[in-house]
Amino acid sequence: MSRKIIPVADWRTMLRDRATPDLSGAPVPANGSLTDARARPLRDLRISVTDRCNFRCVYCMPKEIFGKDHPFLPHSHLLTFEEIERLARVFVAHGVEKIRLTGGEPLLRKNIEYLIERLATLRTPHGKPLDLTLTTNGSLLTRKARSLRDAGLTRLTVSLDALDDTLFRSINDVDFPVTDVLAGVDAAREAGFESIKVNMVVKRGTNDHEIVPMARHFRGSGVVLRFIEYMDVGSSNGWRMDDVVPSAEVVSRIAALYPVEPVAPGYRGETAERWRYLDGQGEVGLISSVTHAFCGDCTRARLSTEGKMYLCLFASQGYDLRALVRNPDLDDAALSSAVAQIWHARDDHYSESRAAHNEAGQIRQDDARRVEMSYIGG
Ligand code: GTP
Ligand code: 5AD
Ligand code: SF4
Ligand code: SF4
Repeated sequence: MSRKIIPVADWRTMLRDRATPDLSGAPVPANGSLTDARARPLRDLRISVTDRCNFRCVYCMPKEIFGKDHPFLPHSHLLTFEEIERLARVFVAHGVEKIRLTGGEPLLRKNIEYLIERLATLRTPHGKPLDLTLTTNGSLLTRKARSLRDAGLTRLTVSLDALDDTLFRSINDVDFPVTDVLAGVDAAREAGFESIKVNMVVKRGTNDHEIVPMARHFRGSGVVLRFIEYMDVGSSNGWRMDDVVPSAEVVSRIAALYPVEPVAPGYRGETAERWRYLDGQGEVGLISSVTHAFCGDCTRARLSTEGKMYLCLFASQGYDLRALVRNPDLDDAALSSAVAQIWHARDDHYSESRAAHNEAGQIRQDDARRVEMSYIGG
């Protein structure tokens, strides 16, 4: 596999912030029904709790860029747990019902269980607890599954791109064995997690021959396997359309062996299209961000490790909420107004517009550098 990578000392310095809103007017109260410029509500908040990871997946944190000398964020730049909780409370008041902790690798953040305990106490304006979940590479799960469950995490998603050990070790690029991730999934099940998903990013020529073995392995296990189309996220993965295996092809490869039928979406804005095995062995999900963009129902806001709010996975600029949280003159009402104004003006729909560009035969080349997924959270 050949990749062209242009190392950049610190791409973050090339990202400018977007101006935070003018907070001099009357506060905008939260009533749980905020919508953006495309009438999309705010329902999900994805919080990146660290920009570090113990893997160096070649498509996400390639060693050439994220090497020994990579300047990860100093601790003082990270939002503290108190700051995250305060912001999360504001987002929940505006309608957020699901919080996902991401990274980097979120289990590398010290005392993450404490943050989970705090977030588990939050209630929606209707008095409901949150759907509180986390995306992990699974490497620390055998050790941590029980404490995560005890802290109040409701479900779990594990990233796993191959079952073949040699291939898996070369994808994570730190020689991490697949058996340890599978043991982590088992530990999560034993700890009482009822909803566990496994996400596999499919890249043609790299791991597409693992589609059927992965489907076979997780069929009937209670774990929901989801296939993700490889995306042009960030600036360091050298993406090409040829790398993408369209979800339709994934489904037909599985259906050739194990017949499936479509299942209706679980909720508005669900990323995955769901398919059920006709023999009752569970279901799989297909996340088609490239061939079937789902921006029209995108209800997701993202909070980066250092407290910038991003309105799209592909945004090149975020809003510096950390500056607001650390400003002693601003109270929660001011934070609430800021979030309301930012979401209200949101018009982002990157994947849809990329699809339009692709149809016109041009792949979009952004001038601005895009945020890396390890910083903003997948
Ligand atoms: P569930 O709540 O379990 O349904 O999870 P989810 O699909 O909302 O989130 P998850 O982190 O499991 O997402 C899986 C993958 O889908 C991510 O790693 C991304 O590749 C992709 N994805 C998630 N959200 C977005 C999004 O807003 N836009 C795009 N383009 N891709 C997304
Ligand atoms: N395309 C699709 N998904 C990606 N992820 C990371 N980079 C990409 C990409 N280019 C996913 C990982 C993991 C989550 C953290 O983000 O596989 O599931
Ligand atoms: Fe780490 Fe996940 Fe990125 Fe791999 S995909 S380097 S596990 S954050
Ligand atoms: Fe949402 Fe942006 Fe993804 Fe579209 S590309 S679904 S707007 S995050």
